[in-house]
Amino acid sequence: MNDAPHKPVLYKEIIHALQPGRGGRYVDGTLGAGGHARGILEASAPDGQLLGLDVDPQALALARKTLAPYEQRIHLVQASYTSLSAQLAQLGWDAVDGIVLDLGASSMQFDTPGRGFSFQHEAPLDMRFGPSALQTAADLVNKYSERELADLIYQYGEERDSRKIARAIVRARPLHTTRELVAVIEAVSPRRGDRVHPATRTFQALRIAVNEELASIEEVLPQAVASLRTRGRLAVISFHSLEDRIIKEFLREQSKDLVNPPYERIYEVERKATLKEVTRKPVMPSDEDIKNNPRARSAKLRIAEKT
Ligand SMILES: C[S@@+](CC[C@H](N)C(=O)[O-])C[C@H]1O[C@@H](n2cnc3c(N)ncnc32)[C@H](O)[C@@H]1O
Repeated sequence: MNDAPHKPVLYKEIIHALQPGRGGRYVDGTLGAGGHARGILEASAPDGQLLGLDVDPQALALARKTLAPYEQRIHLVQASYTSLSAQLAQLGWDAVDGIVLDLGASSMQFDTPGRGFSFQHEAPLDMRFGPSALQTAADLVNKYSERELADLIYQYGEERDSRKIARAIVRARPLHTTRELVAVIEAVSPRRGDRVHPATRTFQALRIAVNEELASIEEVLPQAVASLRTRGRLAVISFHSLEDRIIKEFLREQSKDLVNPPYERIYEVERKATLKEVTRKPVMPSDEDIKNNPRARSAKLRIAEKT
């Protein structure tokens, strides 16, 4: 058996979306503990292959154990999914049958106290998914101007109190640990009967900035489309509206034929649609999924097929 704690979010739905089959070639760009990857490998037995990427060496080590039974059919690389095209070229794969991206941090990362993702554990303000990230959360908190911090917390955290929090951070710094940051936030942004802890949105914002999460999604989506073979499928799970908006708009845009401007009178198709959305609305997690993993609550899966 393996060490994967339980099935990842939207497990059945991902397998259903990708419809892995024998002889297929698949990419898991966010390998994590290898749960989705294992499902893909099982469903594409006996000879489907999988390229698995993750920037986090701890995730790769875990996935390597989970996927040990499929050793002959996997290629695991410590790299960002933003290098997708280069990784495929390296393998000599000119097209793939399915790509999954399960964005954000893993449970393992959230629950490892020393990594600084959770405001519930005392830890250095790190929040890097992997060692290749250029800055830690402490770097941002201690070096950015008050204005830059306020903008970051507002844009990536959608936090109403961003200005107050930024001002308090600048007054209190240097800040080195999660607990120090939580104390600063709690002092200026007390609980308002919200369900969420007042530090939630600031922590999310810092994590997104440290790992350049939104820019990475924008970078990978065109590469994913270019890498799929006809009728190959892309399945993307996002966990907050900022990610989902980028994915939704990209899929909508790629699902349309582009025609030249109407004032020219003659309509010419300049680019045929490259994708077809498999479900117009995102697929949401089941009650069982949410029971197993409360973080699944905000997950949304979007699926598209290469035309
Ligand atoms: C939600 S977890 C994936 C869980 C996985 N689907 C499973 O079944 O266990 C997201 C993973 O993506 C990784 N990750 C985040 N950004 C990445 C990037 N730009 N490139 C590669 N991996 C990334 C994180 O390190 C984390 O391990």
